Amino acid sequence: MKDIFKSPFVEEMKKTTANMYRLGWDERNGGNISYMLNEAEVAEYLDLNNVIRTIPTGFKADALIGKIFIVTGTGKYFKNVEVDPESNLGIIRIAKDGTTAELLWGYSDGGRFTSELPAHLMSHMARLGVNPENRVVMHCHPTYTLAMNYSHKLDDREFTRSLWKTCTECMVVFPDGVGVLPWMLCGNNEIGEATAEKMKEYRLVIWGLHGIYGAGKDMDETFGLIETVEKAAQLYMISAHLPRINTITDDQLRVIAEAFKVDYRKDFLD
Ligand code: 13P
Ligand code: ZN
Repeated sequence: MKDIFKSPFVEEMKKTTANMYRLGWDERNGGNISYMLNEAEVAEYLDLNNVIRTIPTGFKADALIGKIFIVTGTGKYFKNVEVDPESNLGIIRIAKDGTTAELLWGYSDGGRFTSELPAHLMSHMARLGVNPENRVVMHCHPTYTLAMNYSHKLDDREFTRSLWKTCTECMVVFPDGVGVLPWMLCGNNEIGEATAEKMKEYRLVIWGLHGIYGAGKDMDETFGLIETVEKAAQLYMISAHLPRINTITDDQLRVIAEAFKVDYRKDFLD
């Protein structure tokens, strides 16, 4: 068996959580990541017949039976993943009943997966329905994106337009736009179902007055989506109180979309 501490997937989780922490997106235990792994790759590092313990998930995820994920632990601090991945991360497989997680590695202090597992796994199912390549779901509390929630209308079209019009790159990076949920209680199936419903249309979903979800085929794509929203939200917030003399127009947004040949939300333009 190869050394799991040197596996590319543990390395990626360490690197990503450290980056997110340093950007201020994940204070204390804020944020969580789930990353679907390739079974053959995991088998190089772990005996897949050795289930350490089972943990009920509280919902059915039949479409994910047998799928393996590396997931951040609940209550765990992103800043600590780098130094102690085995207690802050876990590798789980969805059991044959679709409602149980089989722990294959990690959560070594008796912990368990993030309280947001419903939103993660339901989002994986929704995104896989759109793109079979989807692997990563990421949640965090980026400062300016969250700040914008307090001064901007919480509406898919309006929020997306404000971001697109702030930064030329936004139309290229997320032409599909941003879904926005109202404030909801987190950590339960209800917010998971609402997130997954938005994920059928969007790779980015704002949790009103809480944070953001991103989904993508790998860590870079997912991180890059959130990073681009956060950059635009930062520009929006530091200029929102000043007179708006210049803005990217709807016609210019069309020009960008056509030049970069992206499939964009045409109904989001006037
Ligand atoms: P967990 O510590 O359970 O992952 O929760 C953090 C969080 O951001 C809740 O939305
Ligand atoms: Zn959160």
